[in-house]
Amino acid sequence: MQLYKYLMLILLLFFFPLELSLKTSAYAESAQKIKVKEEEIRQSMITISRQLGVTCTECHNMKKLTDDSMKNFKVAREHIKVVELLKLNGMDGKKGPEASCYMCHRGQLQIPYKEKSNSH
Ligand code: HEC
Ligand code: HEC
Repeated sequence: MQLYKYLMLILLLFFFPLELSLKTSAYAESAQKIKVKEEEIRQSMITISRQLGVTCTECHNMKKLTDDSMKNFKVAREHIKVVELLKLNGMDGKKGPEASCYMCHRGQLQIPYKEKSNSH
């Protein structure tokens, strides 16, 4: 009986730190993933700003970046989806052009998009 208790204690001491270190490495890994994701968002935001010729404040309430009340934010969210759809449907840059904001916007926020009615 004494021996059994002793063995249990050894087992506990052995496995507990192991489990603890597994847990902390899982946390470190997910923190790393979040960091990568943040960096990706940051980069894509810099890209869309450049391609539209604007700065962050054109779409964002800088005190709260998730605030979606600005008109440009809402339109941009739709157009991000448009670009994603184009990429999924062949415009992925592998054989031809890769869809982007620049493709239509050409460095401008407001673009003429209607055919002039007196053009024919
Ligand atoms: C043309 C409009 C536009 C511009 C310019 C823009 N953003 Fe964004 N941003 C958006 C939209 C739309 C989303 C939401 C994307 C989504 O929901 O998928 C977003 C999301 C974000 C997020 C993620 C917020 C969250 O946690 O959900 C961050 C951070 C961010 N933008 C930072 C910036 C910074 C910094 C700049 C300037 C370099 C910038 N944005 C420029 C439209 C814009
Ligand atoms: C297929 C062409 C096309 C692409 C690609 C495109 N846009 Fe647009 N965008 C337009 C057109 C057309 C308008 C004007 C009509 C409107 O305001 O809805 C516009 C208007 C906007 C506006 C509102 C400007 C204003 O002052 O009214 C924002 C913001 C915007 N786009 C953001 C984006 C972002 C960000 C991307 C890339 C993720 C993007 N767009 C990609 C065609 C495009």
